[in-house]
Amino acid sequence: MSNHDLAVIVLAAGKGTRLKSSLAKVLHKAGGRTLVEHIVRACEPLKARETVVVVGHQAEQVAAVVEPLGAVTVLQQPQNGTGHAVQVAKRTLGRAKCALVLPGDAPLVRPETLKAMLAAHHNGNAGATILSAVVADPSGYGRIVRKSETAVSAIVEESQLTDEQREINEINSAIYCFSLESLWPALAQVKPNNKHRELYLTDAIAVMSGKGETVLAQVAGDSREVLGCNTRADLAEVDRIFREWKRNALMDAGVTIQLPETVLIDPDVSAGEDTVIEAGVQLLGKTKLGARCSVKTGSVIVDSVIGDDVKVEPHSLIVESRLEDRATVGPFARLRVGTHVKSGARVGNFVETKKAVIGEGAKVPHLTYLGDAKVGAKTNIGAGTITCNYDGFEKHPTTIGRGVFIGSDSVLVAPVRIGDHAYVAAGSTITENVPDDSLGIGRGRQVNKPGWASKKRRELAAALQPKKSARRSNRKKSNRKSKKHR
Ligand code: UD1
Ligand code: CA
Repeated sequence: MSNHDLAVIVLAAGKGTRLKSSLAKVLHKAGGRTLVEHIVRACEPLKARETVVVVGHQAEQVAAVVEPLGAVTVLQQPQNGTGHAVQVAKRTLGRAKCALVLPGDAPLVRPETLKAMLAAHHNGNAGATILSAVVADPSGYGRIVRKSETAVSAIVEESQLTDEQREINEINSAIYCFSLESLWPALAQVKPNNKHRELYLTDAIAVMSGKGETVLAQVAGDSREVLGCNTRADLAEVDRIFREWKRNALMDAGVTIQLPETVLIDPDVSAGEDTVIEAGVQLLGKTKLGARCSVKTGSVIVDSVIGDDVKVEPHSLIVESRLEDRATVGPFARLRVGTHVKSGARVGNFVETKKAVIGEGAKVPHLTYLGDAKVGAKTNIGAGTITCNYDGFEKHPTTIGRGVFIGSDSVLVAPVRIGDHAYVAAGSTITENVPDDSLGIGRGRQVNKPGWASKKRRELAAALQPKKSARRSNRKKSNRKSKKHR
């Protein structure tokens, strides 16, 4: 069967009561993405004719996640159960003959597993094929009741289990493949015979089996793939697994990760060979790291592009920035949005930058704020330099040329330009442009007064003298009094 006959249906209308959240369950995140986004993406390689997401709770927000991925949405209102959700999707399926149905809350399933399941479905000429898993603790899941080694007779929900069925440890993942000509008549026979008065998709299985149709269950090789997220603890567990898979993929690609379980990496992050990531690092968003970089402990890098041989010293925060080859940053640096550190440049400890370009080989080694600033190649910015970019109403630019030396503790009041190869004297407040090759000094001139210190000390001592002698004579008087009393 060609993929032209296949439709994907993702059930994502539920609220997720067990999460105790104002956010719909499928919009919660694990492994750096919303649950529903993981599922839609996992189905992409199947190249189905249609991907339909059934939405209900926070329908607009869910649609905003899945529609950019090419899915269409259909509204289920009210949410009368998983069987009802599939019925609601019917009108959008066009000429599809077969549907892959997935829950919106089981995001770990891999495309290869789905492909294998579809193949088993077609090869077995089945009416339905269920992805199942054998687990140590089946509680909370529907159980697979088999009538023979190969054929399934029913799925029984937790609330309806007999004592004997409770022992079954093969569970329903809620991922199925249905031949639609078998599914629609079976669903029409399902009754809301449960305490929630819902139409359960799982009940269609017993109907199909009862009619003598082939119902298969394909056991997932890795049972973790079918984990559903019903509680916050489930979300944490699924997140942990996604993070582990991502780290393993990077390690396979030649990246060293120390104490891997302490390192958090988002799905779209990439890193080159021989890059070393230390304990407690977070690489988030669309961050790209080159080869042979080192990212030391406690650093967080978000949506940034980093070249080769870059060093990020401990506890640095880098957001939406670009670091060229051989740049070094930190320790304790904060690179905010729009920072561009050119090749070989250095941004040191306790430096904050925002919309700042640091030229090739330039140095900003310590205790500096550069905002809306351009620093030319090979320029040195002394400790404690501050660009005053904001006047309370607007931001203004500071332009520092190439080969400039800015003395420590200088304040550059923007808008201002320091010319190429100029000097700024330490401790200056610079309010006017400094031309190329000039020295800018903006501070009071120093005056030395010889002998001033000893003269001052004599004056102070003399001023204290009468008070001291007065205190001494008072003490003598009180001593005499106390002797009399004895
Ligand atoms: C479901 C299965 C159970 C299986 C488990 C695996 C049923 C009745 N039970 O139980 O056998 O072991 O998944 O994780 O299907 N949804 C809708 N509309 C509705 C109801 C639900 O779109 O009216 C969506 C939910 O948003 C969710 C998915 O369907 O994404 C599954 O619903 P959920 O309530 O989580 O089912 P489980 O109780 O986990
Ligand atoms: Ca669930």
